Amino acid sequence: MKKILITGGAGFIGSHVVRLFVNKYPDSQIFNLDKLTYAGNLENLKDVEHKPNYKFVKGDITDATFINNLFNQEKFDSVIHLAAESHVDRSISNPLEFVQTNVIGTVNLLNAAKEIWKDNLANHLFYHVSTDEVYGTLGEEGLFTEETSYDPHSPYSASKAASDHFVRAYFDTYKLPVVISNCSNNYGPNHFPEKLIPLCIHNIKNNKPLPIYGKGENVRDWLFVEDHASAIDVIFHNAKLGSTYNIGGHNEWTNIDVIRLLCKIMDKKLGRAEGKNEKLITFVKDRAGHDLRYAIDSTKLQNELGWKPSLQFEEGLEKTVDWYLANEEWLSHVTSGNYQTYYDKQYVQR
Ligand code: NAD
Ligand code: TYD
Repeated sequence: MKKILITGGAGFIGSHVVRLFVNKYPDSQIFNLDKLTYAGNLENLKDVEHKPNYKFVKGDITDATFINNLFNQEKFDSVIHLAAESHVDRSISNPLEFVQTNVIGTVNLLNAAKEIWKDNLANHLFYHVSTDEVYGTLGEEGLFTEETSYDPHSPYSASKAASDHFVRAYFDTYKLPVVISNCSNNYGPNHFPEKLIPLCIHNIKNNKPLPIYGKGENVRDWLFVEDHASAIDVIFHNAKLGSTYNIGGHNEWTNIDVIRLLCKIMDKKLGRAEGKNEKLITFVKDRAGHDLRYAIDSTKLQNELGWKPSLQFEEGLEKTVDWYLANEEWLSHVTSGNYQTYYDKQYVQR
């Protein structure tokens, strides 16, 4: 059985990747390594936790001794690395935590993989999952390609850029078999309600203000999370070693337009008068160093590996709203903090 380590599998995107791999590859052993920070929620994986090819390991990627021991013990065939601190606003308040997890944590994993694979680099892969934010910001025109120079502006994107550089350096220096993908903004089920879309779904439901930074003119390129997971699957199995792929939805929206659309969808779903939810929109102080526009050119991935997104944004957003409305318990556990007791109940006391 091939052993695949997925880091950060209890988080938003990681949980979708874990589910896809556990269900699609029953002959592979899928390990989910996660520290269970505030962003890690094992309730995301209830439907796969009892599958025989799934194993959860609680641990911290910044702990080099722990990581080396784990790799020595399990001798993973490949790694898909998603564990990270991921929220720009938190990176502005606490940059060092982002350096620890996103840079040091990544280098710890690279070192551990290099050590166990050193005598036979063939048939292994270290897949590093990254963001389009490393490229900085676009003006009105243009798209990020794989050749765009790095120009990160937030502590989050600076830490992800640094981790990408380390991954490439291990390919060049040690011939470690690596691949990197840089994806645009994801949305969908299990998204922690500190990010724009789930925060606003939660606030609309509870008739609370919808905080829009600045004038709401910043543009993001939104991709449904399951489409990101399917791109990761395609890249993991087919990518050329040492290469980079941009993943995006060709789906640019200003923040204010996203929230207006969300308000409209939720007017209908909640049986409220048309235009009622829009009244909750509140313009607040802008984010420091707020990137104006992200937009991805994913031609390379589409042409070389044949991947394309499956969902239109309107359809994906409606699906997302339906999920949040049908999963009130998930949302209330997350907002009350109860989800953090799930691990103790599920994995320790039994
Ligand atoms: P998330 O914050 O929802 O999840 C991160 C996960 O990593 C959590 O489960 C957390 O517990 C775990 N983690 C954090 N620190 C850890 C540590 N020290 N050791 C072990 N586990 C730790 O993040 P996400 O939105 O799912 O993003 C996953 C990855 O995808 C990140 O690398 C992020 O940079 C990248 N990415 C995210 C987006 C997006 O729109 N969310 C877009 C492109 C790329
Ligand atoms: P976010 O979901 O934090 O993702 P990222 O910063 O990684 O793109 O934010 C998406 C956009 O929404 C970004 O331009 C910042 C903006 N935003 C708000 O206007 N209000 C909010 O409360 C949040 C969290 C984000």
